Formats: sequence, C-alpha cells, structure tokens
Amino acid sequence: MSLMEKHKVIERNSILLLGLTIVVVLIGGIVEIVPLFRSETVIESVEGMRPYTPLELAGQNIYIRENCVVCHSQQIRPLRDEVVRYGHYSLAAESMYDHPFLWGSKRIGPDLARVGGKYSDDWHVSHLIEPRNLVPETIMPSYGFLIKNAAKLHDLDKHLKTLRIVGVPYSDDMIENAVKDASVQAIGSDRANIDGLLERYGENVNARDFDGQPDMVSEMDALIAYLQVLGTFIDFDAIKDVEGSE
Ligand code: HEC
Repeated sequence: MSLMEKHKVIERNSILLLGLTIVVVLIGGIVEIVPLFRSETVIESVEGMRPYTPLELAGQNIYIRENCVVCHSQQIRPLRDEVVRYGHYSLAAESMYDHPFLWGSKRIGPDLARVGGKYSDDWHVSHLIEPRNLVPETIMPSYGFLIKNAAKLHDLDKHLKTLRIVGVPYSDDMIENAVKDASVQAIGSDRANIDGLLERYGENVNARDFDGQPDMVSEMDALIAYLQVLGTFIDFDAIKDVEGSE
C-alpha cells in the first residue's frame, strides 16, 4: 500500500481521523507546556536574589498562618499607577523562593512586595500591635500577641531541608546552623556568631533586635525581619534598561 493509500484509509474514517488528530495535537501541547513546569526554564536569574534566612522564613510562616495574604498582595504589576505607587514592578525571580507563593489576589490593604525598608522597625511594631494608632481609619486587625509569643525556631532546619527538596538552594551549612542563625539575627549583637550568618546569606542581611525586646526572639521579631526584606534583594538602580522603573 502506498503512502497515499494509507492516508486514504484515515481520511475516509472520520473517527480514526479524529482520534489521530487528537493524538497529534496532544503531542504538540506536551512539547510546549511541559518545559514550563521546570522553573529554571521560565525564571530568569537576577543578581541579588537569595533564599530567606531562617528568621525571615519563620516570619513568612507567621505571615502565612495569620493569613495576611487575604488582604495584601505581593505583586506589583507593570502598570504606570502601580509602579509610581509601589516601585519597580515585580519580577518572576523575586518570588522564586516562595513556597507557597504569596502573590495574593486581593488588596484590602496595600501591596507589600516592596515594603522592606519603607518604615522603621518601631513603626511596624506599633502598627502591628494596634494599626489604628497610626492609621485611624484602617480595618487591619491588631496583632499585639506577636510580641508576647516566642518565635518557633527549633524546627527551622527541617523547613530549610524541605524547601531544598523543592529547589531552594540551601546548603548543608545553612541547614546545620539554621536554628542558631535565627536567634543570632534577631539578637543582632552576638558578634561572635554574626559573621557566620552574614557569610552564609550575604552582607546585607538585617541582623538586629527588631521588636525592642533584646532578651527574647518573639514572633514579632520574625515577622518584621521578613517584612523588612520584601522587595529589597534586587538593586534596581543597577538595572537601567528596564522600562517604567523611574
Ligand atoms: C482585614 C484586612 C487586613 C489584614 C488581614 C492584614 N492587613 Fe495589613 N493592612 C490593611 C489595610 C487596610 C492597610 C492600610 C492602612 C494601614 O496602614 O493600616 C494595611 C497596611 C499594612 C502595612 C503598611 C503598608 C504600607 O505600605 O503602608 C503593613 C506592613 C501591613 N499591613 C502588614 C500586614 C501583616 C504583616 C498582616 C498579617 C499579620 C496584615 N497586614 C494583615 C489590611 C489588612
């Protein structure tokens, strides 16, 4: 049977034609879509991105537990009004180490993708304890209990280990020192151990007492450590050729 005749068989049997068409379209779809499941192929790496320190990660866990994401997004869209209000639009790389991602879909409060460094630690402490002290009309709930609760640090090494499984590049050294690094960062004055923390995560890590209680690592310390790094990893002044960044 020549090739033309074989094809005739397919063309004369509509069910067979339909079946084979579906198979061919599926192959095309798989070839296009499957590579996108691997984040390395879709996220451009950008200088400055680093995994969260253990303390920041503990803060992110509190952010997730308290469901801040229902009121706050973490994604600045490339639209003029957003860029003017919040700063450079978010890059995919900026949430590459977030598991789960916290982009959010609602803005009852402002976007927080670049809130790091916008306010002092003291501002955050009093805002989280009682938002109405600073913004009388706000509907944000009070989170005063965070300053009384000790942060849960003892199992952070396991968090780092788990995140490594899904691709966050935590080294053995980081995992081994996770619990210690978390309290060193929140105490801020432990000179003997701070160098190790900075060596592992970079010189620009904020190591200080965030909540004004030097003798305790509270959930407030962890949450503020997290808020203060949001959107600060990439130096956008150094990336000049991106539009709409002024
Ligand atoms: C019920 C909605 C709601 C929830 C839940 C909520 N917020 Fe807010 N948040 C707001 C509103 C509204 C504002 C704006 C007014 C103000 O500053 O209080 C705000 C403002 C903020 C700001 C200041 C942002 C800026 O750029 O001025 C920060 C930081 C913040 N929230 C953090 C948090 C954190 C952290 C949590 C979770 C522990 C949280 N919020 C939970 C509604 C909420």
